[in-house]
Amino acid sequence: MSPSVVIRGGKVVNHDFTEKADVLIEGGKIKEVGHDLPVPKGATVLDATHKLVIPGGIDTHTHMQLPFMGQVAIDDFYSGTRAAVAGGTTMIIDFVIPQKGEGLLGAYDKWRGWADPKVCVDFSFHVAVTWWSDEVKRDMETLVKERGVNSFKIFMAYKGVFQLDDSQMIEVFKTCRELGALAMVHAENGDMVAELQQKMKTLGIMGPEGHALSRPEIVEAEAVNRAIMLSNQSHCPLYVVHVMSKSAADSITLNRQKGQVVFGEPIAASLGTDGTNYFHKCWAHAAGHVLSPPLRPDPTTPMYLMQQLANGNLDCVGTDNCTFNTAQKAVGKDDFTKIPNGVNGVEDRMSIVWTKGVCAGLIDECKFVEVTSSKAAKIFNLYPKKGRVAVGSDADLVVWDTSASRMISKDTHHQAVNFNIFEGQTVFGKPVHVISGGHVVLQDGELKVSRGHGNYIPRQAHCSHVYNILRHREKTEQPVPVTRGPYTGPVAEPAK
Ligand code: URP
Ligand code: ZN
Ligand code: ZN
Repeated sequence: MSPSVVIRGGKVVNHDFTEKADVLIEGGKIKEVGHDLPVPKGATVLDATHKLVIPGGIDTHTHMQLPFMGQVAIDDFYSGTRAAVAGGTTMIIDFVIPQKGEGLLGAYDKWRGWADPKVCVDFSFHVAVTWWSDEVKRDMETLVKERGVNSFKIFMAYKGVFQLDDSQMIEVFKTCRELGALAMVHAENGDMVAELQQKMKTLGIMGPEGHALSRPEIVEAEAVNRAIMLSNQSHCPLYVVHVMSKSAADSITLNRQKGQVVFGEPIAASLGTDGTNYFHKCWAHAAGHVLSPPLRPDPTTPMYLMQQLANGNLDCVGTDNCTFNTAQKAVGKDDFTKIPNGVNGVEDRMSIVWTKGVCAGLIDECKFVEVTSSKAAKIFNLYPKKGRVAVGSDADLVVWDTSASRMISKDTHHQAVNFNIFEGQTVFGKPVHVISGGHVVLQDGELKVSRGHGNYIPRQAHCSHVYNILRHREKTEQPVPVTRGPYTGPVAEPAK
């Protein structure tokens, strides 16, 4: 049983209102939100004067210790979630990614075995579908009904490894629809990427710039558009992970305007830096920024994506945190197609959004809470257990100092990786105190995390935030046959 905690004198910020109030925490839950709350005997009192009290951040997209491209991501479920706390994030949703031919249930169990003893915050899992069979379909059903998984990711890229073709994607979308799950997509045309990679090599381009050049925006936008068409024709809601370009964001906006049910997730990387880094003279610097889809060389992209979050065309911010040390990246030193894909973000996400969003005058503190926490909780069916400061919600809270600033550096960050894509940037907004499940895990800026403290959070299918509109629409848009008399004229014989 966790001890009582009282957060005193702060401004409570939810996505829809703010109020000056104290917060009382007992038994891991928020017990009371109100003025001048009495302090129970033995309670820890945290001062939040001149600070915000916000729901803990939810990172919708991480890959801790992912085995990928011949390496294992260096930030594991301990260092990764410890760094998350340092940045104000109290829940991650990681991806179980089975190899082709591997059972989804077995992969899920393996990931739980990795995560359970190490996590410092609550976590949940999306599961990737990397091949298709009746067994996969059965596993999806078991995962939904018995393991609390309500979201499945499809890769349209990584040809020959994880990529599904259109007919397989349709099967996954239909199955998600039957199960009431949310489909997620890594949107890039993998066949075109493979073609362009070969072209770059023929031109003698072997460095990290080849990564960006072989994955132009149109390759992302085409896949976004195709995925939305296929999923919505299957009456399945879609969530586009790691939205990296203006064109991809525009495709989501356009389809939404036509009434398609699609959500978009920019990441800390796409909001906080850009693809000019691939053309840097230092190989390690350029390779350190390699992820897929790539950062875009157009330096106005980050602000554009933040504007789309501000106006509601995009939904919530993840990170795609998947970190590899420079030596790991260097397995691709002579061939950009071999550089392990992935970058950091789990620690810096909240500060990046505060700086590029609130400090830039594009969003207010309510929208900040929405895009870093509440909307994710809604889309993935965690709300209001997560994503809200309210009586009965989990006590995952952050006391956020809006006036604090810091310079991001690999030398001071808490992640295990020896590189930081935001190196040298001064960011604003910082957690002073972080509470996870009622436990103070960061106090006055000092980490107090423990391995295995976090819990696996199962998530129910048929999430109303995602499915209600589709169900209503289905009733009004059900095709009906035309009533007409029978055709009575001649019928031709089949040709011989
Ligand atoms: O480059 C990336 N994004 N690495 C992680 C795997 C994925 O595609 O999400
Ligand atoms: Zn991906
Ligand atoms: Zn990812």
